Amino acid sequence: MGPVPDLTDRADACARRLCAADSVLLASHIDADGLTSAAIASTALARAAIPHEVVFKKQLDATEIASIAACEYETVLFTDFGSGQLDVIAEHERAGDFTPVIADHHQPADAETEFHLNPLLFGIDGASELSGAGASYVLARALAEVADSRTEATAAGITATDEIDADNRDLAALAVVGAVGDMQTTQGELTGANRGIVEEGVEAGVVNETTDITFYGKQTRPLPKLLEYASEVRIPGISNDQNGAISFLDGLSVDFTSDSGWRRWVDLSDDEKQVLVSELLQHALRKGVPADKAQQLVGTTYTLAAEQEGTELRDASEFSTLLNATARYERADVGLAVCLGDRNEALERARRLLDNHRRNLSEGLQQVKSRGVERGEYIQWFDAGEEIRETIVGIVAGMALGVEGVDPDRPIVAFARKNDEETKVSARGTGRLVGSGLDLSVVVGEASRALGGDGGGHDVAAGATIPAGREQEFIEKADDIVGAQLAE
Ligand code: C5P
Ligand code: C5P
Ligand code: ZN
Repeated sequence: MGPVPDLTDRADACARRLCAADSVLLASHIDADGLTSAAIASTALARAAIPHEVVFKKQLDATEIASIAACEYETVLFTDFGSGQLDVIAEHERAGDFTPVIADHHQPADAETEFHLNPLLFGIDGASELSGAGASYVLARALAEVADSRTEATAAGITATDEIDADNRDLAALAVVGAVGDMQTTQGELTGANRGIVEEGVEAGVVNETTDITFYGKQTRPLPKLLEYASEVRIPGISNDQNGAISFLDGLSVDFTSDSGWRRWVDLSDDEKQVLVSELLQHALRKGVPADKAQQLVGTTYTLAAEQEGTELRDASEFSTLLNATARYERADVGLAVCLGDRNEALERARRLLDNHRRNLSEGLQQVKSRGVERGEYIQWFDAGEEIRETIVGIVAGMALGVEGVDPDRPIVAFARKNDEETKVSARGTGRLVGSGLDLSVVVGEASRALGGDGGGHDVAAGATIPAGREQEFIEKADDIVGAQLAE
């Protein structure tokens, strides 16, 4: 039985198909979830002694799928994408170009294929209960079992590697990073099918699930920055206020500095953490933060037990940002190497990319703040033009839902220039809006296709490519569809 019982049979079938292949082309998406998906799948294939090559794509469309077909692999494993383009993939399958195996969590297109592992086919939510890395992990667990029984059945020594009897549960750590990177948590906590993975990771000793301060940057940010930049709970006089954060810390009984400057959250003792949380909580309440909101200062957090404390890799959320900093800048190879264990050159390179990514996010958000957003009847939007890279405009859109001047409770659409002919669209919503009927994968899919583009994704987050110059029409269509969804 795998970590997600409902998916076990399908995962087995996919694993058997992969074990029957002479070699596999593994194709994955260029974000944290896609990288961890590829690392999980690649490790599992290697352990099962299945030769393979890994490629990354910014997005899967007919052209990219044709280029994959041209590689002439008989078996192609798609992770963290593939379902949304199932119609095109199935055509290639019928033409005998390749046999697809898909481990994904996106809304499937209207077509079918035999080796399709997707939580949505089994009533499990792909936006909050299982990520691409989670689907890949389910596959990896099945691969371990299938490969294991295969070697037992054949004479010893034929395809066995030393690691073949590893059960792949160590890969749960990367699956947690993927799910956290895809923002699948509810108030910090992984739920649904993700729970089975967390539990296996904890049992295997690679994942720690603890109750801790929820702020981003516990491992690496100096304390004033941890407080100043926290967006989880906004505290007047501290959030977005460097001097406020410093004077707050200076006013407490604990010395938060050391010889080398400000200490970080990880450097504090349990008692010191207690003091800081309780003082923060009191300060927040005094400043009028509602009690239920203030309590979100503390929640479930995930760390990777095998990683060194005080590094980005120790914290699932910081790890996922580090990965986004590589793959979204055409350096998926760097992120993959880090996932596969490189703690030298690749990690150093990833950290340099992270500095650049941080700067871009902060400048992008600043731009949205200063220019503001425009409003339709139901949605709000901004056009970043060339100022924000199309590969990160979705992250900025998500971060913007929560800054001053942007309605936190209204779907947001962002445009960024792709090239002379095409515009990238990213859309983000909230859990509450989804509860009221919002499904952005439908909104963005229908509106883009009506203009000759294409797109999809999840109910709460989706993206598309449309012809340049058609942005206003897209907004009108999207506004109508959102209006209809929320009226139902
Ligand atoms: O392609 P993929 O599924 O990996 O990407 C999911 C995207 O949706 C991520 O960019 C993630 O940040 C976003 N998302 C979000 N809010 C959620 C769930 C996902 O912005 N609640
Ligand atoms: O690119 P962005 O971060 O906005 O993507 C949000 C979600 O929409 C991701 O899950 C992504 O895989 C999906 N998407 C898609 N088709 C596109 C663009 C994005 O399915 N053309
Ligand atoms: Zn994903």
